[in-house]
Parts: sequence; C-alpha cells; structure tokens
Amino acid sequence: MPPKYFPTRGHLLVCQGNSCQARGSALLYQALWKHLEREGLSYYKQGGSLRLTTSGCLGACSYGPTLCVYRPQGGGLQEGWYAGVDFPLARRIAQAVHEEAPLPSEHRYSPEAR
Ligand code: FES
Repeated sequence: MPPKYFPTRGHLLVCQGNSCQARGSALLYQALWKHLEREGLSYYKQGGSLRLTTSGCLGACSYGPTLCVYRPQGGGLQEGWYAGVDFPLARRIAQAVHEEAPLPSEHRYSPEAR
C-alpha cells in the first residue's frame, strides 16, 4: 500500500546550509515549526495546509536566512524566494500560503509573477 497522500497549499523550505545557520536559520526553522503546530497550519493537522522542511544551500548564502516557498497556482507552481528572513516574516509568508493570499513582497527576491 502506498503512503497516505496529504494535499497541501504550499511547501516552505528553510535553508540549513552553514551560512544560513550562522545567521540563525536553525532557530527560525524551529520557531516556524512550533508556530505551524500551535496554529494548526501543518498539513497533518485538521484544517492545516502547509508543509515545512529544511533544505540544503539555496544559493543566497550571503543574504540568509533564506526561505523559499512553492505553491500550486494556475495549473503550475508559484515560487517565492526570500532572503534575510526573520520569524515575523516567515509567519506572514506561511499565513499567506495558508489563506491562498498574495505572498508578502518584503525581502522577496524572486519576480512577483513567478
Ligand atoms: S547557506 Fe543558505 S543559501 Fe547558502
């Protein structure tokens, strides 16, 4: 039997490469994980919709902590790439994905249309 498939509204990845860790990305990941748990936003919670994982280097090492998000949009995937992410911004990004609202523009370095 295959594993259970959990539909999600988006996948957030928080870089845990060396440079981002030196800028606090481990704490950022833990704080965001706890927030998603507490608010019931994680995909495995009733009504939750978000997947959160760590990643290796995302290629913006001098600007970390780096976070990227992918979410379904218009039959494709929308990307959001963020540098210098702190917990309040990570929380706003997660909330926007959960609510299927526009992604925050601050600290975003990917083009808006993607
Ligand atoms: S270490 Fe995070 S972007 Fe490279």
